[in-house]
Amino acid sequence: MLVAGGTGRIGGAVVRHALAAGWRVAVHGRSAAKGDGASSKGFRVDVAQHDAAGRLVADVLTWTGRIDAVVDCVATGPAARITGAFEDTEPDAYAAFLDLSLGHLQRLAHAALPALSKQGGTLIAFASDAGRFAAPRQVMIGASRAGIIGFVRNLSQEVSRDGVRVHCVSPGYVDTEDARAPADRVAKARARAGLGLPTPDDIAPLVLFLCGDGARRITGQVISVNGGMNA
Ligand SMILES: NC(=O)c1ccc[n+]([C@@H]2O[C@H](COP(=O)([O-])OP(=O)(O)OC[C@H]3O[C@@H](n4cnc5c(N)ncnc54)[C@H](OP(=O)(O)O)[C@@H]3O)[C@@H](O)[C@H]2O)c1
Repeated sequence: MLVAGGTGRIGGAVVRHALAAGWRVAVHGRSAAKGDGASSKGFRVDVAQHDAAGRLVADVLTWTGRIDAVVDCVATGPAARITGAFEDTEPDAYAAFLDLSLGHLQRLAHAALPALSKQGGTLIAFASDAGRFAAPRQVMIGASRAGIIGFVRNLSQEVSRDGVRVHCVSPGYVDTEDARAPADRVAKARARAGLGLPTPDDIAPLVLFLCGDGARRITGQVISVNGGMNA
Protein backbone atom coordinates (compact mmCIF):
# COMPACT_ATOMS: atom_id res chain seq x y z
CA MET A 1 0.00 0.00 0.00
CA LEU A 2 1.27 3.41 -0.98
CA VAL A 3 -0.01 6.07 1.41
CA ALA A 4 0.61 9.48 -0.17
CA GLY A 5 0.59 12.04 2.60
CA GLY A 6 1.37 9.20 5.00
CA THR A 7 3.29 11.57 7.27
CA GLY A 8 0.10 13.56 7.95
CA ARG A 9 -2.65 13.17 10.54
CA ILE A 10 -5.08 10.95 8.62
CA GLY A 11 -2.36 9.38 6.47
CA GLY A 12 -0.40 8.51 9.61
CA ALA A 13 -3.40 6.68 11.04
CA VAL A 14 -3.88 4.80 7.75
CA VAL A 15 -0.21 3.76 7.88
CA ARG A 16 -0.52 2.51 11.48
CA HIS A 17 -3.71 0.56 10.80
CA ALA A 18 -2.33 -0.90 7.55
CA LEU A 19 0.86 -2.08 9.23
CA ALA A 20 -1.19 -3.64 12.03
CA ALA A 21 -3.29 -5.45 9.39
CA GLY A 22 -0.15 -6.87 7.76
CA TRP A 23 0.22 -4.58 4.75
CA ARG A 24 3.64 -3.58 3.51
CA VAL A 25 3.42 0.20 3.44
CA ALA A 26 5.20 2.88 1.41
CA VAL A 27 4.90 6.08 3.43
CA HIS A 28 5.06 9.20 1.31
CA GLY A 29 5.45 12.74 2.59
CA ARG A 30 7.13 16.01 1.91
CA SER A 31 9.16 15.41 5.04
CA ALA A 32 11.14 12.24 5.62
CA ALA A 33 9.10 9.32 6.93
CA LYS A 34 10.83 6.65 8.95
CA GLY A 35 10.37 3.00 8.12
CA ASP A 36 12.06 -0.25 9.03
CA GLY A 37 12.81 -0.92 5.36
CA ALA A 38 11.04 -4.28 5.53
CA SER A 39 7.36 -3.64 6.30
CA SER A 40 7.51 0.12 5.71
CA LYS A 41 9.70 2.62 3.95
CA GLY A 42 9.61 6.41 3.65
CA PHE A 43 9.46 8.17 0.27
CA ARG A 44 10.06 11.89 0.20
CA VAL A 45 8.71 13.72 -2.85
CA ASP A 46 7.21 17.19 -3.22
CA VAL A 47 4.02 16.81 -5.26
CA ALA A 48 4.33 20.40 -6.45
CA GLN A 49 6.81 19.02 -8.97
CA HIS A 50 4.90 17.66 -11.95
CA ASP A 51 7.04 14.54 -12.33
CA ALA A 52 6.64 13.73 -8.61
CA ALA A 53 3.93 11.07 -8.95
CA GLY A 54 5.81 9.16 -11.65
CA ARG A 55 9.01 9.18 -9.60
CA LEU A 56 7.17 8.17 -6.44
CA VAL A 57 5.40 5.19 -8.04
CA ALA A 58 8.60 4.07 -9.79
CA ASP A 59 10.55 4.23 -6.50
CA VAL A 60 7.87 2.26 -4.64
CA LEU A 61 7.82 -0.39 -7.39
CA THR A 62 11.59 -0.70 -7.13
CA TRP A 63 11.13 -1.44 -3.42
CA THR A 64 8.11 -3.77 -3.56
CA GLY A 65 7.66 -4.92 -7.16
CA ARG A 66 3.89 -4.37 -6.94
CA ILE A 67 1.28 -1.95 -5.63
CA ASP A 68 -2.15 -3.18 -4.49
CA ALA A 69 -3.53 0.02 -3.01
CA VAL A 70 -2.87 3.74 -3.30
CA VAL A 71 -4.36 6.02 -0.65
CA ASP A 72 -3.98 9.73 -1.33
CA CYS A 73 -4.02 11.65 1.95
CA VAL A 74 -1.96 14.57 0.67
CA ALA A 75 -3.38 17.87 1.86
CA THR A 76 -1.81 20.78 0.12
CA GLY A 77 -3.68 23.18 2.35
CA PRO A 78 -5.69 26.16 1.28
CA ALA A 79 -3.51 28.63 -0.52
CA ALA A 80 -3.93 32.27 0.43
CA ARG A 81 -7.60 33.26 0.64
CA ILE A 82 -9.20 30.14 -0.79
CA THR A 83 -11.39 29.54 2.26
CA GLY A 84 -13.78 32.07 3.74
CA ALA A 85 -16.49 34.20 2.21
CA PHE A 86 -16.42 34.03 -1.59
CA GLU A 87 -16.04 37.79 -1.97
CA ASP A 88 -12.83 37.60 0.10
CA THR A 89 -11.25 34.74 -1.86
CA GLU A 90 -8.38 35.39 -4.20
CA PRO A 91 -9.23 34.51 -7.84
CA ASP A 92 -5.64 34.31 -9.05
CA ALA A 93 -4.60 31.86 -6.30
CA TYR A 94 -7.09 29.23 -7.36
CA ALA A 95 -5.34 27.70 -10.36
CA ALA A 96 -2.26 26.89 -8.26
CA PHE A 97 -4.45 25.41 -5.52
CA LEU A 98 -6.33 23.21 -7.99
CA ASP A 99 -3.06 22.01 -9.47
CA LEU A 100 -1.92 20.78 -6.05
CA SER A 101 -5.25 19.14 -5.18
CA LEU A 102 -7.12 17.71 -8.18
CA GLY A 103 -4.11 18.13 -10.47
CA HIS A 104 -1.92 16.12 -8.09
CA LEU A 105 -4.59 13.41 -7.76
CA GLN A 106 -4.90 12.88 -11.49
CA ARG A 107 -1.10 12.76 -11.88
CA LEU A 108 -0.94 10.15 -9.10
CA ALA A 109 -3.72 8.13 -10.76
CA HIS A 110 -1.95 8.25 -14.14
CA ALA A 111 1.24 6.98 -12.51
CA ALA A 112 -0.37 4.30 -10.33
CA LEU A 113 -3.08 2.77 -12.54
CA PRO A 114 -0.72 0.64 -14.67
CA ALA A 115 0.65 -0.95 -11.50
CA LEU A 116 -2.78 -1.36 -9.86
CA SER A 117 -4.29 -2.94 -12.96
CA LYS A 118 -1.59 -5.64 -13.14
CA GLN A 119 -3.26 -7.69 -10.40
CA GLY A 120 -6.22 -5.46 -9.48
CA GLY A 121 -6.19 -2.95 -6.67
CA THR A 122 -7.73 0.09 -5.04
CA LEU A 123 -7.25 3.83 -5.35
CA ILE A 124 -8.64 5.93 -2.49
CA ALA A 125 -8.85 9.70 -2.71
CA PHE A 126 -9.75 12.09 0.09
CA ALA A 127 -12.20 14.92 -0.47
CA SER A 128 -14.28 16.62 2.20
CA ASP A 129 -17.93 17.19 2.98
CA ALA A 130 -17.49 20.68 1.55
CA GLY A 131 -17.73 18.96 -1.84
CA ARG A 132 -20.97 17.16 -0.93
CA PHE A 133 -22.98 19.47 1.30
CA ALA A 134 -23.54 23.17 0.81
CA ALA A 135 -22.31 25.57 3.50
CA PRO A 136 -21.25 29.20 3.62
CA ARG A 137 -17.54 30.11 3.46
CA GLN A 138 -16.61 26.93 1.55
CA VAL A 139 -17.38 27.95 -2.02
CA MET A 140 -13.93 27.46 -3.53
CA ILE A 141 -12.81 24.56 -1.32
CA GLY A 142 -16.17 22.92 -2.02
CA ALA A 143 -15.66 23.31 -5.77
CA SER A 144 -12.27 21.60 -5.62
CA ARG A 145 -13.61 18.78 -3.43
CA ALA A 146 -16.58 18.26 -5.75
CA GLY A 147 -14.03 17.99 -8.58
CA ILE A 148 -12.23 15.20 -6.73
CA ILE A 149 -15.53 13.39 -6.20
CA GLY A 150 -16.42 13.69 -9.89
CA PHE A 151 -12.97 12.43 -10.85
CA VAL A 152 -13.27 9.38 -8.61
CA ARG A 153 -16.80 8.40 -9.66
CA ASN A 154 -16.11 8.73 -13.38
CA LEU A 155 -12.73 7.00 -13.19
CA SER A 156 -14.33 4.06 -11.37
CA GLN A 157 -16.42 3.41 -14.49
CA GLU A 158 -13.36 3.27 -16.75
CA VAL A 159 -11.10 1.03 -14.70
CA SER A 160 -13.40 -1.56 -13.12
CA ARG A 161 -12.76 -4.00 -15.97
CA ASP A 162 -9.06 -3.79 -15.10
CA GLY A 163 -9.95 -4.94 -11.57
CA VAL A 164 -9.28 -1.47 -10.14
CA ARG A 165 -11.67 0.01 -7.58
CA VAL A 166 -11.77 3.73 -6.92
CA HIS A 167 -13.35 5.43 -3.90
CA CYS A 168 -13.45 8.73 -2.13
CA VAL A 169 -13.45 9.21 1.64
CA SER A 170 -15.04 12.46 2.70
CA PRO A 171 -14.35 13.74 6.21
CA GLY A 172 -16.14 16.74 7.64
CA TYR A 173 -14.25 18.13 10.59
CA VAL A 174 -11.69 15.76 12.03
CA ASP A 175 -10.83 15.80 15.71
CA THR A 176 -7.07 16.22 15.92
CA GLU A 177 -4.88 17.83 18.56
CA ASP A 178 -3.75 20.42 16.03
CA ALA A 179 -7.11 21.14 14.34
CA ARG A 180 -6.48 23.99 11.89
CA ALA A 181 -10.08 25.15 11.41
CA PRO A 182 -11.19 28.16 13.49
CA ALA A 183 -12.21 27.07 17.02
CA ASP A 184 -15.75 28.47 16.72
CA ARG A 185 -16.40 26.45 13.54
CA VAL A 186 -15.04 23.26 15.14
CA ALA A 187 -17.30 23.86 18.16
CA LYS A 188 -20.33 24.23 15.86
CA ALA A 189 -19.38 21.05 13.99
CA ARG A 190 -18.95 19.20 17.27
CA ALA A 191 -22.44 20.26 18.34
CA ARG A 192 -23.91 18.94 15.05
CA ALA A 193 -22.05 15.62 15.08
CA GLY A 194 -24.32 13.45 17.24
CA LEU A 195 -21.85 10.57 17.13
CA GLY A 196 -18.92 12.84 17.97
CA LEU A 197 -16.37 14.20 15.52
CA PRO A 198 -14.19 11.45 14.05
CA THR A 199 -10.50 11.17 14.77
CA PRO A 200 -8.03 9.87 12.17
CA ASP A 201 -8.29 6.47 13.91
CA ASP A 202 -12.03 6.46 13.09
CA ILE A 203 -11.28 7.02 9.40
CA ALA A 204 -8.45 4.53 8.82
CA PRO A 205 -10.59 1.36 9.30
CA LEU A 206 -12.85 2.43 6.42
CA VAL A 207 -9.81 2.81 4.17
CA LEU A 208 -8.58 -0.63 5.17
CA PHE A 209 -12.01 -2.16 4.48
CA LEU A 210 -12.23 -0.54 1.04
CA CYS A 211 -8.76 -1.82 0.13
CA GLY A 212 -9.54 -5.33 1.35
CA ASP A 213 -11.07 -8.36 -0.31
CA GLY A 214 -14.39 -7.83 1.49
CA ALA A 215 -14.94 -4.78 -0.73
CA ARG A 216 -14.06 -6.55 -3.99
CA ARG A 217 -17.43 -5.81 -5.63
CA ILE A 218 -17.65 -2.17 -4.49
CA THR A 219 -16.38 0.80 -6.47
CA GLY A 220 -17.09 4.45 -7.19
CA GLN A 221 -18.34 5.24 -3.69
CA VAL A 222 -18.05 8.50 -1.79
CA ILE A 223 -18.31 7.84 1.93
CA SER A 224 -18.52 10.57 4.54
CA VAL A 225 -16.99 10.01 7.95
CA ASN A 226 -18.43 12.94 9.85
CA GLY A 227 -20.00 11.72 13.08
CA GLY A 228 -23.47 12.46 11.73
CA MET A 229 -22.78 16.13 11.01
CA ASN A 230 -24.18 15.90 7.44
CA ALA A 231 -26.41 13.30 5.78
N1 LIG B 1 -8.08 17.03 8.94
C1 LIG B 1 -9.29 17.46 8.60
O1 LIG B 1 -9.99 18.09 9.42
C2 LIG B 1 -9.86 17.18 7.24
C3 LIG B 1 -11.19 17.52 6.96
C4 LIG B 1 -11.70 17.26 5.69
C5 LIG B 1 -10.91 16.70 4.72
N2 LIG B 1 -9.62 16.38 5.01
C6 LIG B 1 -8.81 15.80 3.92
O2 LIG B 1 -8.17 14.61 4.37
C7 LIG B 1 -6.89 14.50 3.73
C8 LIG B 1 -5.80 14.33 4.79
O3 LIG B 1 -5.83 15.47 5.66
P1 LIG B 1 -4.89 15.58 6.95
O4 LIG B 1 -5.64 16.40 7.94
O5 LIG B 1 -4.37 14.24 7.36
O6 LIG B 1 -3.69 16.45 6.36
P2 LIG B 1 -2.29 16.81 7.07
O7 LIG B 1 -2.22 16.30 8.46
O8 LIG B 1 -2.08 18.26 6.85
O9 LIG B 1 -1.22 15.98 6.20
C9 LIG B 1 -0.95 16.40 4.90
C10 LIG B 1 0.00 15.43 4.23
O10 LIG B 1 0.26 15.91 2.91
C11 LIG B 1 1.66 16.02 2.74
N3 LIG B 1 1.96 17.14 1.84
C12 LIG B 1 1.51 18.42 1.90
N4 LIG B 1 2.02 19.15 0.90
C13 LIG B 1 2.81 18.31 0.19
C14 LIG B 1 3.61 18.46 -0.96
N5 LIG B 1 3.72 19.63 -1.60
N6 LIG B 1 4.29 17.37 -1.41
C15 LIG B 1 4.19 16.19 -0.78
N7 LIG B 1 3.45 15.98 0.32
C16 LIG B 1 2.77 17.04 0.79
C17 LIG B 1 2.20 16.26 4.14
O11 LIG B 1 3.59 15.94 4.17
P3 LIG B 1 4.57 16.54 5.33
O12 LIG B 1 3.77 16.54 6.61
O13 LIG B 1 5.68 15.56 5.35
O14 LIG B 1 4.92 17.92 4.90
C18 LIG B 1 1.34 15.31 4.93
O15 LIG B 1 1.81 13.99 4.82
C19 LIG B 1 -6.73 15.74 2.87
O16 LIG B 1 -7.15 15.48 1.55
C20 LIG B 1 -7.68 16.73 3.51
O17 LIG B 1 -8.13 17.73 2.61
C21 LIG B 1 -9.07 16.60 6.23
